[in-house]
Amino acid sequence: MAVEEALLKEAWLALEKSIIYYLGRPVGTVAAYDPEMDALNYDQCFIRDFVSSALVFLIKGETEIVRNFLEKTLRLQAKERQWDFFQPGFGLMPASFKVEGHGVTQDLRADFGERAIGRVTPVDSSLWWLLLLRAYVKVTGDISLAHQPSFQKGIRLILDLCLVSRFDMYPTLLVPDGACMIDRRMGIAGHPLEIQALFYGALRAAQELLLENEENQYFVQAVNNRIAPLQRHIRDEYWLDAERLNVIYRYQVEEYGEESFNKFNIYSDSIPFDWLVNWIPEKGGYLAGNLGPSQLDCRFFALGNLMAIATSLASDHQAHAIMELIIQRQGDLISQMPMKICFPALENSEWRLLTGCDPKNRPWSYHNGGSWPVLLWMLAAAAIKTGRKEIAYEAIAIAAKRLSQDGWPEYYDGQSGRLIGKEARKFQTWTIAGFLLAVELMNRPEALSMLSFEDVIVPPNGNGSSLSD
Ligand code: GLC
Repeated sequence: MAVEEALLKEAWLALEKSIIYYLGRPVGTVAAYDPEMDALNYDQCFIRDFVSSALVFLIKGETEIVRNFLEKTLRLQAKERQWDFFQPGFGLMPASFKVEGHGVTQDLRADFGERAIGRVTPVDSSLWWLLLLRAYVKVTGDISLAHQPSFQKGIRLILDLCLVSRFDMYPTLLVPDGACMIDRRMGIAGHPLEIQALFYGALRAAQELLLENEENQYFVQAVNNRIAPLQRHIRDEYWLDAERLNVIYRYQVEEYGEESFNKFNIYSDSIPFDWLVNWIPEKGGYLAGNLGPSQLDCRFFALGNLMAIATSLASDHQAHAIMELIIQRQGDLISQMPMKICFPALENSEWRLLTGCDPKNRPWSYHNGGSWPVLLWMLAAAAIKTGRKEIAYEAIAIAAKRLSQDGWPEYYDGQSGRLIGKEARKFQTWTIAGFLLAVELMNRPEALSMLSFEDVIVPPNGNGSSLSD
């Protein structure tokens, strides 16, 4: 793909500059390296941010940093049952970590959200970690790393956290607000698509990585039991297209009993049909942002939809329809900078009630309808998977014109993504890595197999159960 060599070189040098060393060995990348702003916690290595860097390193054959990262973060995983309840839960992976001290006295300090703004829980970290471990194994062929007892234990702890008894009736994962890339209050508490897509990918990864032995038996079974119902639930209940809109519009409500059709008691009046009927193209569709009791969040969330395509959580037909929607609604979703984190933005009373009046998340800014260049690689992945490469080429060309000139910002503001984000960091590592990764993936589409999964056939009425069954 025709991106100037000089631009790629500049990005690669910036990525190398972001590397963090621990006892002389590379272990991760800082979130941003902006000399003009107070670092806050951007000088730390975030698990979710590092995945973009790690996939670039893997494609480039620089596997050592990824292995070190996987080993070190595994050591940071919360392994003790804590009874003071303000400590990270058993099995949780940190949001970020930092190297402290100098020389031989260096140490790694993890942040599980206890210092983060809003004390948000990084539910996505463990899920990304599993996806990255599987990518590492795919690229290097080194399954022995994942088979080490410490790694097998780490996987079991993550599964324990996700699959054991819980206060929930759905196959999806119930999480608090801000538990993922959107790490501030944004009205996504419950069963947000982003977490479900990562959860599905993580379960598929665990299925490949867990050894079949007595210790793992229970977990292997729990994973196998969960995959099919989770997939069916998302495909059936989160899906929105012209046909589904008609069904939802005419829903009966207050149905009691197991046979009820409108299972989640969605009131038609809560659905923004006015914009949806115009916005959803005839052939397109997408997975809704969230589903709960009398709640269907119809916002489009990019990461969840794109990762649902990459992991085959979405069916083949749905994957093509999502890409069709992105192409038809390019003006809203890509416009002047790929791509919108969610669409549309929350405004007025919705913004007040759902973000808690967060000025950083005012309409069309940051998480609330801002544009995030890191999403470019996920767009490229989805485009390759569905054979719609032209949209990724276009998006990369748009990004290539501005990213370097603008200093690789974290995000962009405005309905069209024209403005550099009001509080955006410059030299944001996942912006740089996301761009490089998108280009690399387009050049070597076969590399996508490190993070994609083939579809699995789910029996129409197959029943799943959870670990507690
Ligand atoms: C912001 C983003 C979060 C990211 C972090 C570091 O908090 O919302 O997703 O991990 O910055 O870049």
